[in-house]
Amino acid sequence: MEEMIYQGLTFEPYIRREEIAKQVRRLAQEIKRDYDGTTPIFLCILNGAFIFASDLFRACNLHDAEIAFIRFKSYMGMESTGEVKQLMGLTEDIEGRDIIIVEDIIDSGITAAQLRKELAKHNPRSVKMVSLLFKPEALTVGEPPEYVGFEIPSKFILGYGLDLDGLARNLPDIYALKEQR
Ligand code: IMP
Ligand code: MG
Repeated sequence: MEEMIYQGLTFEPYIRREEIAKQVRRLAQEIKRDYDGTTPIFLCILNGAFIFASDLFRACNLHDAEIAFIRFKSYMGMESTGEVKQLMGLTEDIEGRDIIIVEDIIDSGITAAQLRKELAKHNPRSVKMVSLLFKPEALTVGEPPEYVGFEIPSKFILGYGLDLDGLARNLPDIYALKEQR
């Protein structure tokens, strides 16, 4: 694994694919244990969470689980805009259902808080969130996710679904912005 350059910025290896796979397996075990015998809907937040969601959804191996998708956008370049745009809404009926929101990363928490508010209007039975990554220092609103893969400091990362203006989602490993020295 070597450094990668996007938009003139240098990114260095941060979390390797084996390490990601290990945490996905651990999260899947916890979710499987907690939801066994129920019929949850995994709700994948596009675009960033699509790779994590596809790995996690299969690893959970819950016989009666379903998956649905919703699309939000809050980031421009490497900054949160502080405003969350819903670009694609929920078409499934979630009334009385157990919802597991699947996020790639929780940063300010704004996206998660807005989504939880939105979902509550449709009377689900329960709502929990699983996020592959969580930046606790950056959280300004809402609760931490119930299931977390990695807690990381507030640095900008990409790969494994996470992007810089649409780029780098296809990297199998996660990279962090290299500090200027
Ligand atoms: P929040 O609303 O500030 O919690 O931001 C959540 C969304 O911002 C995530 O779903 C990501 O799409 C994006 N995001 C936050 N931090 C990063 C990062 O370090 N790299 C790439 N995208 C990020
Ligand atoms: Mg996202």
